[in-house]
Amino acid sequence: MSVALQRISQLLTVSIGNVALNPLVTAGLLWVLTKGPPELRGQLTSRVAALRDPHSYAQILKALKWCLALGVTSVLNKQLNHVALNAGRFSTTWKSEKARWNWSQEVAVITGGCSGIGELVVKRLVDKGITVAVLDIQKLPPSLHGSGSIKFFACDITDPSAIYSTAEKINSTLGPPTILINNAGILATHTILNTSDEFLRRIFDVNVLSNWYTIKAFLPNMVKANKGHIITIASTASYAGVAGLADYGATKAAILSFHESLSQELKHHYAAPNVLTTSIHPGWVRTPLLAPMEQELKQRGAAIIEPKDVADAVVASVERCAGGHVFLPASLGGTTALLRGLPSWVQELVRDGVTKTIYKSAK
Ligand SMILES: *[C@@H]1O[C@H](CO)[C@@H](O)[C@H](O)[C@H]1NC(C)=O
Ligand SMILES: *[C@@H]1O[C@H](CO)[C@@H](O)[C@H](O)[C@H]1NC(C)=O
Ligand SMILES: *[C@@H]1O[C@H](CO)[C@@H](O)[C@H](O)[C@H]1NC(C)=O
Repeated sequence: MSVALQRISQLLTVSIGNVALNPLVTAGLLWVLTKGPPELRGQLTSRVAALRDPHSYAQILKALKWCLALGVTSVLNKQLNHVALNAGRFSTTWKSEKARWNWSQEVAVITGGCSGIGELVVKRLVDKGITVAVLDIQKLPPSLHGSGSIKFFACDITDPSAIYSTAEKINSTLGPPTILINNAGILATHTILNTSDEFLRRIFDVNVLSNWYTIKAFLPNMVKANKGHIITIASTASYAGVAGLADYGATKAAILSFHESLSQELKHHYAAPNVLTTSIHPGWVRTPLLAPMEQELKQRGAAIIEPKDVADAVVASVERCAGGHVFLPASLGGTTALLRGLPSWVQELVRDGVTKTIYKSAK
């Protein structure tokens, strides 16, 4: 019941927000109510009783002005984010960036494309006509068989020489890739003392170091062409360390930092502003690993997102032909990133909450 109510209130907030914070709507209404033709105003006042009372009329005007100011701020903020993450390009110039991409001629590389989110991303990219090179140690799943646009390369991404030789094979058979999705990642919950040295090495190899190897293999051609899109699948765990996930959180914080440096080097060192970069930060994704925690998360009102939501966000980023910093669920916005700037006691409260959820479900 409470979940249904939450959903409804979320939905209402989103749609009211979309209308009330749309500067065109609020500016239009303000204009009608203050400077518009008297007949139009008359029609409105005859329909809406509140407008006939001078006091509430003034209050409505005031509210509209606030909404207009907030709406304009929000639009400005979105534009500034876009400009900052896209080497100074405005989002109105998307079209010229889009014109440089022809899906039937693009080659994408994805690590860990044989299962989970990766598998879904591969399907969506192929549906768009993109040729996809799948790097994985698992076999290609039946769902990805039979498409001529999917090329499977058995490759252990923890081995740099395996990545470099696979990259040469891809380059010579498919052509230089323009899209790189660093998706492969592993996760297990255990305390720091219970983490084996072997697993520790493995999680840093898979989640972090592989990003260096794939970039070293595929970035040079992108820089040469001043065209490419590198997508890093990070996590909201990039922004908060909690008990039981020390290794996972450290790897995700590491690749966020790596991703930021990469974007800076592209802009200032390689002068390749059209090599786009996007980091994606999903929160709780419904995977088998999450199953034991699901009940507890629901009780705490945490939003659980589906693997397909993450895959949709990845492909939407590719389609936008624009770099970005994406949080999922989108309603979370950048509040996750804000966490680090909050007072320590607020940060600790948030981390406590997540840790308790993990612990309760472990019992
Ligand atoms: C995209 O590439 C195909 C060939 O693969 C070509 O036929 C088509 O005209 C191209 N489209 C654009 C918009 O350049
Ligand atoms: C990839 O192939 C292109 C030609 O399609 C070539 O110019 C480039 O040097 C190759 N890159 C690597 C790293 O082999
Ligand atoms: C963690 O390690 C301790 C000591 O080695 C061991 O007794 C305990 O069973 C381990 N716990 C788990 C969950 O593996």
